[in-house]
Amino acid sequence: MVSLIELDRIAMKPEIINFRSCNDDRGKLVAIEGASGVPFDIKRVYYIYQTKEGVERGFHAHRALTQVAVAVAGSCRMHLDNGFSRASVDLNSPEYGILIKPGVWREMREFSGDCVLLVLADQHYDESDYIREYPEFKQWILENKV
Ligand code: TYD
Repeated sequence: MVSLIELDRIAMKPEIINFRSCNDDRGKLVAIEGASGVPFDIKRVYYIYQTKEGVERGFHAHRALTQVAVAVAGSCRMHLDNGFSRASVDLNSPEYGILIKPGVWREMREFSGDCVLLVLADQHYDESDYIREYPEFKQWILENKV
């Protein structure tokens, strides 16, 4: 299951979503519906897979996008930073997702070779929504959140 492995002194609280799994003697099935399974209508789905050893991804925040990330296979570590505090979460179960709201810097690392990281998003892809430089992110937080 998802475990909170590290917290700063004043930690942000990552929002973990627990998905209901339909289990029977054939195996397991998780269905995620927009608005009920995740707190938004799903407009985009993408997945990150066959990540090479040692690769780190992410290193950005979004101005408006909300996402939920689920390791539907394998595992990775998600590092989150809201500009004031940080948390790291191990994603290692298809039954849990992490909600990533706007204004949160994220970094993903320690992908297992078999990791498939599924991401559900409330907006279509829009490069102008990205903040890809950390100093710019900190500035954006100061201007938009305080
Ligand atoms: P990138 O933002 O670098 O991924 P990560 O956040 O994991 O570091 O995206 C990799 C490439 O994929 C980049 O060329 C943009 C493209 N892309 C899309 O076309 N649509 C999408 O929905 C996403 C997330 C990325």
